[in-house]
Amino acid sequence: MTPRRGSDQRGKGDPNRDRHIPVLLSEVLEALQPKSGERYIDATFGAGGYTSAILDAADCQVLAFDRDPSAVAAGADLVASRGGALELRLAPFGQLLDWAEDPETQDRFVGQFDGVVFDLGVSSMQLDEAERGFSFQSEGPLDMRMFSAPGEGLAEEGLSAADVVNTFDEARIADILFQYGEERRSRAIARAIVARRVQEPFTRTLDLADVVAKVLGGGKPDGRHPATRTFQALRIFVNDELGQLLRGLFGAERLLKPGGRLVLVTFHSLEDRIVKRFLASRGGRSGQGSRHIPQSSIELRAPSFRIVNPRPLTSSKGETQVNPRARSARLRAGVRTAAEPWEIEFADLGVPGLAK
Ligand SMILES: C[S@@+](CC[C@H](N)C(=O)[O-])C[C@H]1O[C@@H](n2cnc3c(N)ncnc32)[C@H](O)[C@@H]1O
Repeated sequence: MTPRRGSDQRGKGDPNRDRHIPVLLSEVLEALQPKSGERYIDATFGAGGYTSAILDAADCQVLAFDRDPSAVAAGADLVASRGGALELRLAPFGQLLDWAEDPETQDRFVGQFDGVVFDLGVSSMQLDEAERGFSFQSEGPLDMRMFSAPGEGLAEEGLSAADVVNTFDEARIADILFQYGEERRSRAIARAIVARRVQEPFTRTLDLADVVAKVLGGGKPDGRHPATRTFQALRIFVNDELGQLLRGLFGAERLLKPGGRLVLVTFHSLEDRIVKRFLASRGGRSGQGSRHIPQSSIELRAPSFRIVNPRPLTSSKGETQVNPRARSARLRAGVRTAAEPWEIEFADLGVPGLAK
């Protein structure tokens, strides 16, 4: 199903309007297949690109989440313009699992949705706002929290990236860079960070980017900035992104009706691996046991999803020319079966374990 062109109802004068280009939008709609009378969850509202397109495609309802107060504030016009079809919540999408498990909410939410879509990672607005501290290319405070205030109850009581590099011991910093950034020189970078912070604690993004660049020396052959992996690792850790993803996946498995569609767009290999393993196991394709799930019990479980595309969809050349951010996007999708949801096994989906 294609979105109705020219019917973007994001508020006029909304600063987010032209800044975040939704990635793989027509592929997302094709996988989600919005239909009139149905209910969807947009787990990552951002600038509302997917939400607008879903609401344009069918006379349906969307419940959207974002953990970033700026994204939710900027979405107020869209909520007002949609006359009750859109509810936007300031909350992490890990809450989907809380609803499914809480006896007070589960009756209202379990098996009640026709589609759930996740567009993971950061938005262009978050990257562009130097004050958020996500970018190694613009000067800003070394923060990287998507949620603005401590107390969301996640990610080490709201530590910022500066807290991590200034207070964690060297081995732990190295582990974070290795596990969440897949940075091969993690130990050398951690050593340089600790040596530098003794002179002066880190407060600014470019300061950290310079220290990393000195260790790694110049740019990477693929043209990426040497601090790319370090910044990715800190962002994932500070926001507990992989823990959130697992909670979101387990929650969606419970909230979707039989026939409901789960659609995920990922931007790096750690996320994609988790999504791939989740769908492969739930779709009966993994064929592997694990420390926690013996092979025999996997074989007895009925698949809770039918996998739509065994290989991930990626962006076309045309899309990546217009939107370079789409280069690393991968879309995976599944359709919920009528089988019971699987048990929640955090340890089995390839999440790097770091002692917190
Ligand atoms: C890539 S953007 C989404 C863009 C959106 N699909 C659009 O078309 O405008 C990702 C958004 O997800 C939000 N986000 C990331 N992790 C989240 C989480 N665990 N819970 C809720 N929102 C999250 C970010 O704050 C960001 O606004």
